[in-house]
Amino acid sequence: MKKLFATLILSLFTVFTFAHEGMWIPSLIKMYYPQMKADGLKLTADQIYNINSSSLKDAVIHFNGGCTSEIVSEKGLLLTNHHCGFGAIQSHSTVEKDYLKNGFWAKSLDEELMNQGMTATRIVRIDDVTSEVMEGLTEGMESAQYQMKIRENYGKIIKAATEDTHYEAEIESYDYGNSYFIIVKEVFKDIRLVGTPPNEIGKFGGDTDNWVWPRHTGDFSVFRIYVGKDNKPAEASKDNVPYKPLHYFPISLLPKQEGDFTMVYGFPGRTEEYISAARLQYIMKTERPMRIAMRDKTMSVIKAAMRSNNELNLKYAAKQARIANAWKKWKGQLIGLTNIDAISIKEAYEDEYMKKANSKSEWKKYANALTLFSDLQRMYQTYDEAYILLNEYCYYGYGPEFLKNASYMKNLRVALESEDEEKIKKAKERAIGKVKGLFKNYDLETDRKIFNVLTPEFINLIPKEYLPYALQKEEVAKVSDKIYSSSILVDQEKLIDFIEKANSKSFKKIEKDPGFLLYQDIEDVFQTRLLTNLRHYYTGMNEQMKIYLAGKLEMFPDKNHWPDANGTMRITWGKLEGSAPRDGMEYKPHTTLDGIYQKYMTGNPDFELSDKMIQAIKKKDYGNYAQDGELWTCFTGSNHTTGGNSGSPVIDENGNLIGINFDRSWESTMSDFMFDPNVCRNITVDIRYVLWVIDKFSGAEHLIKEMKLVTVSKKKLIKNEQPLKSED
Ligand code: ARG
Ligand code: GLU
Repeated sequence: MKKLFATLILSLFTVFTFAHEGMWIPSLIKMYYPQMKADGLKLTADQIYNINSSSLKDAVIHFNGGCTSEIVSEKGLLLTNHHCGFGAIQSHSTVEKDYLKNGFWAKSLDEELMNQGMTATRIVRIDDVTSEVMEGLTEGMESAQYQMKIRENYGKIIKAATEDTHYEAEIESYDYGNSYFIIVKEVFKDIRLVGTPPNEIGKFGGDTDNWVWPRHTGDFSVFRIYVGKDNKPAEASKDNVPYKPLHYFPISLLPKQEGDFTMVYGFPGRTEEYISAARLQYIMKTERPMRIAMRDKTMSVIKAAMRSNNELNLKYAAKQARIANAWKKWKGQLIGLTNIDAISIKEAYEDEYMKKANSKSEWKKYANALTLFSDLQRMYQTYDEAYILLNEYCYYGYGPEFLKNASYMKNLRVALESEDEEKIKKAKERAIGKVKGLFKNYDLETDRKIFNVLTPEFINLIPKEYLPYALQKEEVAKVSDKIYSSSILVDQEKLIDFIEKANSKSFKKIEKDPGFLLYQDIEDVFQTRLLTNLRHYYTGMNEQMKIYLAGKLEMFPDKNHWPDANGTMRITWGKLEGSAPRDGMEYKPHTTLDGIYQKYMTGNPDFELSDKMIQAIKKKDYGNYAQDGELWTCFTGSNHTTGGNSGSPVIDENGNLIGINFDRSWESTMSDFMFDPNVCRNITVDIRYVLWVIDKFSGAEHLIKEMKLVTVSKKKLIKNEQPLKSED
């Protein structure tokens, strides 16, 4: 009965999902363009992706490797999320000049703030190079030989694609290696902070509202790309000038309504849409719950510390946001996947898959792949549990942070062994830089409390045979006392002194350091007991996934297929629409400025407002940005997005910018594994609210003057024109 029900859902699912599920490769746009057009798009395929003349693609910029951003002026002005610029904003902030609290707006180009190491990347081309990658590879080839040949092919393809240009390129695998694409890119290296609203707008709602609808966050910040005088990427320098882009987005101030076409163009990070039922089951029943439990502990300590004083509040703000963000998303995923009974849906599909695969002898290999995958997955799991916990405790840096300091010593040690003076000098500089960076946002007492609270949970969860020796030997309280009273890893001065003076004999001394000892024991478990096994089974699982997916493509050619997100550029589209995620309730598709005040009135500190903001709300001076007397703040849409899509342009049917993507509702986070068209919605900050904050709230009108606005009075005119070219 359960199976029957699941099959029913499955078939409904495949019919309904066609329009909105999927993150599509831009260079293959001709394949899905007819569907986009049927759904309301007015642009031509060439206006969206084109390598011979400018297209929307050229204004969609990968922001610092993680988020997405979009160019909105002919002087390289860049919009992204507040939470994407957060690290940079925090690094320019001090207790006296607190840009997180008060916001920041450069009044002219020379007040814009440089960010060392920050990059912004334009995609030049995306080409299918599967056959070139596969050249000379045969099925029976030995693994080492196979890898060598692939690497050789990669080198050749990249060289040919970038020779005599200033471009960079990489080759990415899609569908577990069923296809490969080359991504040719132009990487800009001088990205400056132009402006940001204060936290009360950019982070309004804090963790209470994160992943939640209805939402009122003004989650945006403003940067600018600078280049050399030749308009090409250059290292950060005072001599650089604003970038003149190939394309930039006109901004639509036109009224919107439910049902309008929307499209999101960006860099989604990772989805796992095609994993087996058994793997999903492990994630839902074991992996996610363990990680959630670990973070519960760390967060309880950090939250209390942040509440206790201002300095700690600043120091731990970014860390806290990062830890809480995934933690809350995972909880949402579990609820969504449980509600839809995702495992039964996958099992029903696998039954169908196996039946097909067993119906023809040449398809038997597909059936075998699924069986083999499950066996490998079961083996992998036994190592993965320990690995996940070590990551949470030590490697991600979300546990006690002195462990990170210990990890920075690894390279130094290797360099010292080499006896190469130059190498040693560089390694010392790097280590000191990292250590200083860590201590900038570190508090010994908070770290001690994290250790004391998190370690017992870690011991409780990790399979006994993988518990690091230092924690088997002694009680947590004793280990803690020793580390926090005598380890050099918790003492900035001593640690830097150690690094400066380090020579080939120094490591003998710190090998007795209690902090270092614990780190060594963790490394020991990871390097000698886990790593080889994890690699072995993971590679094996991927090999079977490749065949399993090839089976889907061959045996179900009519099924909608898109490759999982892998950090490369994608297009997704849907509609501006609300949802009814739970019984008896409905989500409207947009929120307004008034809602900010309503939330403020609840008294929750995440909704705190300054007098300035309260006055601005009460004044109702919406200028050009209102619709029917209201100022929209956020809206939802049925666009399939994930982490990495933060900051992505949300675009209307004519290619104008209508908002900046920044989140999904809680019920939607399941879409990283399974997209439910009835529930899954992305959350966008309305571009008219963004402009209101820049213009009316912050008085930075000079930035609005740089932009191209599409307004109501010009609507008719625009409609008769080339959609991409709009009026000021
Ligand atoms: N949930 C959004 C994303 O995944 C926003 C995160 C930043 N906001 C926060 N309160 N932590 O990145
Ligand atoms: N906030 C996410 C990000 O940083 C986007 C939200 C999502 O995962 O959909 O990319």
